[in-house]
Amino acid sequence: MRTIPLGQSSLQVPVVAVGCMRITSLDKAGAERFVRTAMEEGANFFDHADIYGGGACEELFSDAIGMNASVREGMILQSKCGIRKGMFDFSKEHILTSVDGILKRLKTEYLDVLLLHRPDALVEPEEVAEAFDTLERSGKVRHFGVSNQNPMQIQLLRKFVKQPIVANQLQLSITNATMISSGINVNMENAAAVNRDGSVLDFCRLNDITIQPWSPFQYGFFEGVFLGNEKFPELNRKIDEVAAAYGVTNTTIAIAWLLRHPARMQPVLGTMNVDRLRDCLKAADITLTREQWYDIYRAAGNVLP
Ligand SMILES: NC(=O)c1ccc[n+]([C@@H]2O[C@H](COP(=O)([O-])OP(=O)(O)OC[C@H]3O[C@@H](n4cnc5c(N)ncnc54)[C@H](OP(=O)(O)O)[C@@H]3O)[C@@H](O)[C@H]2O)c1
Repeated sequence: MRTIPLGQSSLQVPVVAVGCMRITSLDKAGAERFVRTAMEEGANFFDHADIYGGGACEELFSDAIGMNASVREGMILQSKCGIRKGMFDFSKEHILTSVDGILKRLKTEYLDVLLLHRPDALVEPEEVAEAFDTLERSGKVRHFGVSNQNPMQIQLLRKFVKQPIVANQLQLSITNATMISSGINVNMENAAAVNRDGSVLDFCRLNDITIQPWSPFQYGFFEGVFLGNEKFPELNRKIDEVAAAYGVTNTTIAIAWLLRHPARMQPVLGTMNVDRLRDCLKAADITLTREQWYDIYRAAGNVLP
């Protein structure tokens, strides 16, 4: 599987990550088959969070695969913390406690990557820095990143945190592409020009922070999958046409569209279906033309000035 460096780090990662938020939709045997297939196909980067299934997703993952030292060596594990019931919490105490819980559930001694899941309005970056130092010194976490953060929030952290921020996980799909469309429509009098994220896409490129698009097949906030959906007839016609040209499925093209962006993003897949997973992985070998990329972008209703 093709790899990219994660942010400024020396860690080489597959161009797609396997998200585990939905793994409890499988039973233990199904989860084992899914995780083994991913690893056999070279997709050995797994994305977790302490809140997925209230911890049940991390537990099922490690139980199903029979986590031990040799299994662990063959995979790259990322998890997230900072979301609590009714609040966000980037306090040192919460970060440290959360990581201990994550390591216990994943049955591992270290995380390759820890992300802060969603911005905490009460963040005290000095505390985050202390937590990261403690985790790095103890060997519990090797690399650090964020999720759903804008450039200023990242800069605030970077003023105190000495480890490089290697990744920013953000919602992005063909139908949720505001971070791309605001950059195309700069200063225009149309809705697409609204810059909701402080130019996070360009900021991450400038600072070598890998963007990890989450929910690459969803429209809205988990409203459903846009592929094959009658709400998006033009988009599906175009994707199907491009898929036919490459002899692949529409699933492959949806991921190839994200991978075509030169920011070298690492989409986080949500499927728990091994055939769909394989279709997603095929995208690593496809480079859409500029025309195909823009045709798909416009077919989703995105406008050009
Ligand atoms: N940082 C954050 O705030 C955040 C938020 C949400 C998610 N995430 C991460 O991102 C990952 C992906 O999120 P997601 O699960 O919402 O992403 P997704 O890949 O957009 O959605 C996956 C869901 O769509 C279904 N699906 C139906 N048709 C599909 C098709 N043709 N291709 C692919 N999937 C199809 C899948 O069903 P099947 O299983 O049957 O294929 C699955 O239920 C999560 O696992 C998690 O790791 C992060």
